[in-house]
Amino acid sequence: MKNNFIQILLTVGLLGFVFSCSPESQTGDQFKGLSDVQRAEALVSECLLCHSNKEAQRGPVLNGMENWYLLDQLQKFRSGVRGKIASNRSEYLMGVGARKINNDYELAYVANWFAEQDPLPAIRTIDGDLKEGKKFYEQRCISCHGENGEGNRLVNAPSLTRLEGWYFYQQMKKFRSGERGYHPHDVGGQAMAAASKEISDRNLRNVVAYSVDKFGPKEEISNRERYAPKGSRQPF
Ligand code: HEC
Ligand code: HEC
Repeated sequence: MKNNFIQILLTVGLLGFVFSCSPESQTGDQFKGLSDVQRAEALVSECLLCHSNKEAQRGPVLNGMENWYLLDQLQKFRSGVRGKIASNRSEYLMGVGARKINNDYELAYVANWFAEQDPLPAIRTIDGDLKEGKKFYEQRCISCHGENGEGNRLVNAPSLTRLEGWYFYQQMKKFRSGERGYHPHDVGGQAMAAASKEISDRNLRNVVAYSVDKFGPKEEISNRERYAPKGSRQPF
């Protein structure tokens, strides 16, 4: 009898212990016990899983983007003003990233961290007619993004100087199709979506090629160039 009683006590105690632990283990709080700064640093390394130039399937490099723009976009992802269209797979992925940000401190920390990094070189991926692209940029983009792609905060227009060609091109297509800048609360996104209406594919390639060439990130040599430079005829 006494033994049974102890067994019951032990079982109840054990169950209580399991229940009190499970909420934490279910949310997988691996940052438990860390200070706010340590948590924010750990969060940056999670962002870097997708936001470095190492992965094949990844998000854009964010290094050196403007702090205000990063904050603004992260807030949009968190509130669902950006990234809620199911067909837009890459934004959906970023939704996963945005949900890892727990509070305003972490939000400010990660935005500031990326804004302070030196920009990275990028491989040129979009070819186009640079002269035509320049003309198009001057007609359709310069008023908001400036002569050297420096952007204009007064109209929420970000600098375009950090954008890799592939990402630049992809985002332009999303603005044009209405996959980005569709939400009634997305003031900046809507302005940019309106500016992208009815751009032909050819003009789009030209303007991206021109922008990246004129004021984009420094060019990274591709592996093909590194191992078999242009003009090299010698077979291996
Ligand atoms: C699972 C991969 C993944 C993770 C983790 C992730 N992101 Fe992203 N992120 C993306 C993808 C993909 C995009 C591009 C979305 C698109 O195509 O519109 C993106 C876009 C962004 C943008 C918009 C950039 C622009 O030029 O408009 C910002 C800002 C951003 N991410 C910040 C972060 C931060 C900060 C973290 C860490 C808290 C993070 N991301 C974690 C995949 C990820
Ligand atoms: C009426 C002002 C306006 C004009 C004209 C305009 N833009 Fe924008 N652009 C914006 C705003 C505002 C944003 C920020 C959108 C957001 O908050 O999501 C933006 C965002 C962008 C982005 C996304 C950057 C990123 O990091 O994801 C690209 C790329 C871009 N613009 C390129 C262009 C090009 C190329 C043109 C000319 C064809 C152009 N814009 C014309 C206002 C403008």
